[in-house]
Order: sequence, then structure tokens, then C-alpha cells
Amino acid sequence: MAPLNAEILGKLHAAFRPHAPIDNPDDFQGRESERERVETALITPGLHVVIFGERGAGKTSLANVATSKKNPIKVFCERGSSFSALCRSVLLKLSVNDPARLIYDARTQTIRSGGINLDLNSPTLSADDFRTLLPSGPTFIVVDEIDRIENIEVVHRLAELCKNLSTNRPDIKFVLIGVASTADEILRGHTSNVRNFRQIALERMTEAELSKIIAHGELVLGLQFDGIVKKRLVQVSDRLPYYVHLIAVSTAERALARGSQRVEVTDFELGLKAAARDCDAELSTTYEAAIPSVRESEIYRRIVWAVAEGDARVSPTAAITAKVNAIAKGEEDEPVTAQAVGAALKKLIKPERKQILTKEQNGLYRFSNPLMRGYVRLVRESR
Ligand SMILES: Nc1ncnc2c1ncn2[C@@H]1O[C@H](COP(=O)(O)OP(=O)(O)OP(=O)(O)O)[C@@H](O)[C@H]1O
Ligand SMILES: [Mg+2]
Repeated sequence: MAPLNAEILGKLHAAFRPHAPIDNPDDFQGRESERERVETALITPGLHVVIFGERGAGKTSLANVATSKKNPIKVFCERGSSFSALCRSVLLKLSVNDPARLIYDARTQTIRSGGINLDLNSPTLSADDFRTLLPSGPTFIVVDEIDRIENIEVVHRLAELCKNLSTNRPDIKFVLIGVASTADEILRGHTSNVRNFRQIALERMTEAELSKIIAHGELVLGLQFDGIVKKRLVQVSDRLPYYVHLIAVSTAERALARGSQRVEVTDFELGLKAAARDCDAELSTTYEAAIPSVRESEIYRRIVWAVAEGDARVSPTAAITAKVNAIAKGEEDEPVTAQAVGAALKKLIKPERKQILTKEQNGLYRFSNPLMRGYVRLVRESR
């Protein structure tokens, strides 16, 4: 493939950016009601926001766009983040924005404002200490990836701080973001605080929203994706915006390299292969561990493909067996019994097969990593 010139490459990465959240509101598609709910919460005194959903659903992008005119402070959590470390990160960023009021002394690791002098390394930095150093006007603080925090006490203190601020400083707003399926899961059972939080559950995107991402990219690049390419791209994406960007970027790149303004099926097929290679390495390692490439392992591959088919997020053994045999028939192979599928499923939830699947308490199977469905569809489509 001929290399693209820097200008076209720049446009390509402006149009589709699988590895970075959206920060320009003009690039943000769909999610109108979620965005509206975040924006109104941010002007409602005493209300904070918690955004939760699957990995790659678009949580950070939504927070970026909803706070884009508010000059927010953004901090990211790590596994070992402590409450004082998070307060410290926020205060340091505030001092950069307002160095005349908040004076940071790097040598002594202290921060000073008025008559208050705070030791930033103090492990006992409290919510009240933190509050006294906040600016006098409305302030927006986004704390992302709080699901990573291992110490549950840190999340409790964060929720308590939000409650404290709702009462004492209703113009200070927190937006807490994390991978979770409920707000309670993200606040680690701190339900007493839910009253002070607007909960924004970010589901997967609709097909119409995903099509808008492609249409926006077409506009930026002056390209036209063929109808069938758009349709297949949306289908394979498993309704995750991440996959649409990932496949669209490598597909569009191929059309541009041919010097064409039309994105055709052949570009898509080559683009899919490149996208599968560019995916998270963990996905390919797990997939390959689950499906060793020997003849008798066909059943494992077919099971994994079967679980990735259709819209259901969880599948019973009977449905998996039916799909496995439909795939086998398409490959002119013999059907297998439900017992054989059951035995293979038991192996696919084991560490030897990298636990590609998880068995839920009700006996249904799902992919352990929610991105795996999209990856498997990608691999299957690109064969
Ligand atoms: N509304 C949107 N319009 C267009 N693209 C989007 C939208 N939301 C998300 N994306 C794209 O989808 C991908 C994932 O988005 P983002 O990083 O915001 O997700 P996330 O939920 O924060 O992911 P993670 O769980 O990994 O932190 C990015 O490529 C981003 O550019
Ligand atoms: Mg994110």
C-alpha cells in the first residue's frame, strides 16, 4: 500500500480515531439524550454525575463533550490511587490554572492559599482541607476510570466528598466515570449517596448513531463509503463505536492509498485484516489460546464464533449447539452433540483457554471481555 502524504494522514486521523476519546463536540455523534442529561445535571446545584457502561462505550468522550465549555479539571485513577493522591492531582491542576491564588511549592510539596498551607504528601489530607482550597466560582472535576481503584475505602471517601460538596459548595461538580453495569457497582455500594448523583448509563450505540460516525468521517475526508461497506461495517462493530473507528480508519486508508474517493468492498476486506492486527493484543492472545489450530479444535472455533453471532449477550448451551452445527454445515462438516458442545464449553471457561468465556450463575455463557464479540466478528469476517 502506497504511503499517504502527511496532510491526508492528518485528515484520516481526524476523521476516525479508535485509540482516543472524542474531545471536539463537532466530532461527537448521537447520544443526544445522555448528553442533555449530563449537561442539565451540571447546572443543577448540588447534583453530581456518574457515567458508567462497558469498556469502549464512549464514557470519556461524553464527559469531554458535555464539559467542553467548562474548563474542567480531569484526573485519571490508577489501581493504587489513594484519596489524598486524587485530591492532590486535582489541587495541582487547579494551581496551574490559577497560580496567583493557589501557590504550589514543589520543594516542600505544599500548596498555599490565603492563610492555609497544605502538605500535599500528607496521607490524611481530608475532604474539608480539600474544600477550603477550591476556587470560589463553579468548578468541574472529572474523575475517570474509577473502576481501577482497588481500595474500596477510596471510592467511599470520594462519594462522601461529593455529598459534603452538595451541601457546602453546590457549585462544585464531580463527574465520576468508570466501567460498570450499575451506578452502585461504580460507587461500590455507596447507595446512600445516589440521591446526589445523576446516573448516566451508557449503552452500546444504535445502528443509526454508528452510521453517523461513518457519515461524519466521509465528510471530513471527502470520501464515499459504498452502501454495502457501511452496512457490513456497522454489523461487524458489535455496536461499539471503538470498532467502527478501528475498521473505518484502515478501510478508508486503503481507498485513499488507491487514490480513490470511493470506499469499496475490497478496501473493507483488507481493512478488516489490518484492524484485527491492530486490536488490543490481549484479544488476539486470548482468541488464539482458546482455539488451538489443530483439526479436532474446530469445535472450539465454532463455539466461539457461535457465541459472537446474533444480538444476545448471553447464550444457553442449546442455542450455541444449534449455531455450531449451522456453521459446521456451512463448512460441509458433520454435526456434533449438545454433550460435546457442553464438554468443550467447560474447557473454554478455564485458565488454559484464557477464560475466553464466562459461565453465569444461571448457566448461560458470555465472553469474559466484552470487546471479544467484536474481535471474533472481525476475525471471522476477515477470513
Ligand atoms: N459519540 C461518539 N461519536 C463518535 N465517536 C465516539 C463517540 N463515543 C465514543 N466514540 C469513539 O469510541 C471510542 C471509545 O470512546 P471512549 O474512549 O470515550 O470510550 P470509554 O467508554 O471512555 O472507553 P474506556 O472504557 O476504555 O475508558 C473512541 O475511539 C471514541 O473516539
Ligand atoms: Mg474512557
